[in-house]
Amino acid sequence: MARGDWQEQNLKFSLSESNMRPEPRICDYEGTDYRTDFWEGRGREYEDLAERIALRRLLPASGRRLLDLGAGFGRLAEFYDRYDEVVLLDYSRSLLRQAQDRLGRNGRIRYVAANFYRLPFVDSVFDTVMMVRVMHHVEQVPALLGEVARVLAQGGAYVLEFASKRHLKAILRYLLRRQRWSPFDPTPYEFVAMNFDFHPAWMEERLREAGFHVKHRRTVSHFRLPLLKRLFPAPWLARLDGLCQPTGAWWQLTPSVFVCCGLDKPGGGLADGLFRCPACGHAPLHESVEAVHCAACGRRWPVEDGLYNFVASAAGDDRQGSAGDQGRFRSGS
Ligand SMILES: C[S@@+](CC[C@H](N)C(=O)[O-])C[C@H]1O[C@@H](n2cnc3c(N)ncnc32)[C@H](O)[C@@H]1O
Ligand SMILES: [Zn+2]
Repeated sequence: MARGDWQEQNLKFSLSESNMRPEPRICDYEGTDYRTDFWEGRGREYEDLAERIALRRLLPASGRRLLDLGAGFGRLAEFYDRYDEVVLLDYSRSLLRQAQDRLGRNGRIRYVAANFYRLPFVDSVFDTVMMVRVMHHVEQVPALLGEVARVLAQGGAYVLEFASKRHLKAILRYLLRRQRWSPFDPTPYEFVAMNFDFHPAWMEERLREAGFHVKHRRTVSHFRLPLLKRLFPAPWLARLDGLCQPTGAWWQLTPSVFVCCGLDKPGGGLADGLFRCPACGHAPLHESVEAVHCAACGRRWPVEDGLYNFVASAAGDDRQGSAGDQGRFRSGS
């Protein structure tokens, strides 16, 4: 099953009512069991292993502060060990709770519920941002990349996976006239509501516009075919995939592409502090055990059992703003 098939059946969408509101739509995983419905025992061990091989090669060997953007239930936690501090950010509180249960509550790892279009962090505060299987839910790519460039420090690394529309199966289907959309057309293709495949050249152009330069490319999941997955053991197929991944430097014809980008940006060093108000941009925020408080706009962002909740400001706060009221746009279906 393609990644979108499962999502279509299981996810709710936060509709932006685009005529009235410019807010991008959000693919809402709250309450879904992404781990057991998509990964565990679902025949995707090969993809999981192949992605880990790519990350092992692309992520810096060590670092000070890592942001896993759209971290879900913390599937890729093995890479957190390389960093002094780690922030898992996701829109879904229920997935973050699962991550918390898996990884524990300690000072090194923070769990942050927020919308990635309004990151609740001060500028230049991370030296690495990783983002795997998330870009395909991004409706406004330049807006998201602008936020990543803002919170990443100069000289930092952005390791990004995106779903490519220009893969061999799509090309064959198109040439045999079994598919109407062209894998060569640079515009993103929304194959299921809020699930986008991107042309690699289009994505690299957006990355350049946001100030990134692509340093390394790896193509992943060369053998994502049910027959091959049935015939060969997943670790074996993943190892073969790992050998093929470096060809991504020359051509990209797989359904998944990983890139490691540097950032062209003035300034240097990691910023102090961590949070800024996602509604008004003020920093620093005042942190207590129960909440993070913004002195500029008066919002209180609750801290619930170790989970920072920047999705909705605390109950009783009648000063809701665009970052705090995303829930109002949910279709719930
Ligand atoms: C397919 S899952 C990938 C999770 C994880 N990166 C992995 O590879 O296992 C996509 C994740 O993106 C998150 N997401 C989608 N839209 C978001 C938004 N606007 N802000 C923050 N997270 C978002 C979802 O909640 C979900 O956990
Ligand atoms: Zn504020």
